[in-house]
Amino acid sequence: MSYQNILSTTNNGIASITINRPKKLNALNKATIEELHSAFKVANKDKEVKVIILTGSGEKAFVAGADISEFADFDVKNAENLAGDGQKILFDYIENLSTPVIAAINGFALGGGLELAMACHFRVASTNAKMGLPEVSLGVIPGYGGTQRLPQLVGKGRAMEMVMTAGMIDANQALDYGLVNHVTGEGDELIALAEKIAGKIMRNSSVAIKGAIKAINANFKDGVDGYKTEIKQFGKCFGTEDFKEGTTAFLKKRKADFPGK
Ligand code: COA
Repeated sequence: MSYQNILSTTNNGIASITINRPKKLNALNKATIEELHSAFKVANKDKEVKVIILTGSGEKAFVAGADISEFADFDVKNAENLAGDGQKILFDYIENLSTPVIAAINGFALGGGLELAMACHFRVASTNAKMGLPEVSLGVIPGYGGTQRLPQLVGKGRAMEMVMTAGMIDANQALDYGLVNHVTGEGDELIALAEKIAGKIMRNSSVAIKGAIKAINANFKDGVDGYKTEIKQFGKCFGTEDFKEGTTAFLKKRKADFPGK
């Protein structure tokens, strides 16, 4: 599939999706959001893809936010639709994807950019990364799930301060806050780290990982009992070929070769 605003490649079980509007610091316009939805959908359906890595092109930014030029003259209804549609087709969509998604934050991750990174299953960052939710400095609040996911990741008080001050934190502070899992050097080093972690994930059962994502996400969903979800997903594993292979390999003292079924 050909895209105007993103790049998407697959290699050795890893789909790399790169937001590619470096002159606009990879700001998320409507077309980019739609292309990202489509690329994630394609990657998730591809049986060869075990992990997806999301990053931004250029040296400055992961994503510097939603494209301000696109919504500057919106009214209340337009704005609700923008946030609602975006959450549905991209942010919630990524969070609930069955293929693991790692955000590789390579510079500014601001507003919708940080919200996008937070919708991914976890995050790694380069030393030059800067993260924040500056929306209140524009007279608006985060609309792509930022008010919900930031407190989940860093705690309520830190989220309140970050949102109210509209300030940025650097990679080490984000590491300290638990917003990112690892910090490394810029450029190739960041992608190498994400790929190294992807390699560890790929050795395991993709069907079990799918169940684990559902169970972990259940903890953050209103009206859903996470413990019950875990019991259901745990049970489901026992009917899979991966479970047979994993337990047989262990008992026979050999490495498991999961069929992914
Ligand atoms: N939406 C639309 N365009 C954006 C953008 C955004 N969120 N962020 C950056 N850009 C554009 C700039 O308008 C500029 O375009 P131009 O060259 O056509 O004028 C280009 O990207 C480069 O940005 P610039 O501001 O010149 O880079 P900088 O290094 O001086 O500053 C930032 C970098 C990230 C501090 C600054 O771009 C910024 O504050 N961006 C907005 C961040 C934000 O508020 N995001 C939340 C949106 S809800």
